[in-house]
Amino acid sequence: MEASPDSSPADQRWPWWPLLPLYPYGRKRTLVRELIPDQLWSFEQLQGVFYVAVPIRMTVVRVRGGLMLYASAAPTGEVRRALRDLEARFGPVQSIVLPTASGLEHKLPVPPLARAFPKAQVWVTPGQWSFPLSLPLPWLGFPAKRTRVLGEDGFPHGDELQWSSLGPLDLGLGRFQEFACLHKASGALLMTDALVAINQEPPELFDLDPTPLLFHARDRGDQPLIDTPEQRQKGWERLALFASFLRPEALEVPPLSGLLARAWRPGCRDPRSYFGIYPFQWASSSTAAFAALQAQAVDRLLVAPVLERLVFPRARPVVVRWLRELSRWEGVRWIVPAHYDAPIPCSPELLGRLAHAFEQRPWAPEDGNWEYLANLDQLLVRTGVVPSEPLE
Ligand SMILES: [Fe+2]
Repeated sequence: MEASPDSSPADQRWPWWPLLPLYPYGRKRTLVRELIPDQLWSFEQLQGVFYVAVPIRMTVVRVRGGLMLYASAAPTGEVRRALRDLEARFGPVQSIVLPTASGLEHKLPVPPLARAFPKAQVWVTPGQWSFPLSLPLPWLGFPAKRTRVLGEDGFPHGDELQWSSLGPLDLGLGRFQEFACLHKASGALLMTDALVAINQEPPELFDLDPTPLLFHARDRGDQPLIDTPEQRQKGWERLALFASFLRPEALEVPPLSGLLARAWRPGCRDPRSYFGIYPFQWASSSTAAFAALQAQAVDRLLVAPVLERLVFPRARPVVVRWLRELSRWEGVRWIVPAHYDAPIPCSPELLGRLAHAFEQRPWAPEDGNWEYLANLDQLLVRTGVVPSEPLE
């Protein structure tokens, strides 16, 4: 039941995009996949800054008499229609879960999603914060009468799901916390940002619009966007490096003069190629850097480097303890994160192995690809924005 091929642009309209002005702006295409037959579905959309577009996932879970939505996707026409199809088969959307305190990309779609399903209960992670102002939830559009707080008010579908919290950790600006849950019927462990499995090849979602891949596959702004499997692969590897390290080691930022001189060349004067502006230059092979990133994974799973270096640099014991707790749960067969690939085969034994690996290997390094993130972290600690010891 793929929602995409026959959907019209009007169906993909997402009027709330100015709240988080990221590519692909006002148009969001959605890839709908059944992950586990009659149990679990993935709704994927692209979101990102300056074409650093990584897939974000809403997971639809079958619960008794209906559905639960874990982490949200923008409720465009095609998303609502695909959800109505599932409701016709399995019952109504009963609950909408915002499983993270900090991930803005998972939070913004919740209020409109709640309005599209006015009977659903909304569950949020405690300590929601908005930047730069801390606004109360109703101001952000959360329906006060049917919004509950995970943990404090219990948990939705407690007999069918098992819940666990990673954090909270004090980040100075606000807190990091996310709730994972095990869907006992399918053995799927849902999580938000904590672990990812980065696709070796471009995710299927890019088949709907490969522009971000082709944009990054180039070496200069005046080169045209050429669509070949090789260019897509190269673009994907670079996108994953950007999203992981913000500024990978192999990247040089060229001087502004050269950048603008190449802009506005014939063939580049369109928004798709950002009018020829391409402020990146790869000093060494992005393929080798991508391979090194994947080599950090244990059976495909890793902590996203941006998280390890900026959120968990001094909280390794918290992450390890959480993985150990999950490894004692029975029946884990899959991990379904809210970004990148899913479902990823998993087991209690693998969760234990991950905890052990995180304990043994160097944590939150400072050199190579990690240098930019490390400098950012040190700046935040030095200026007192982030506490030097995380408070649990
Ligand atoms: Fe996220």
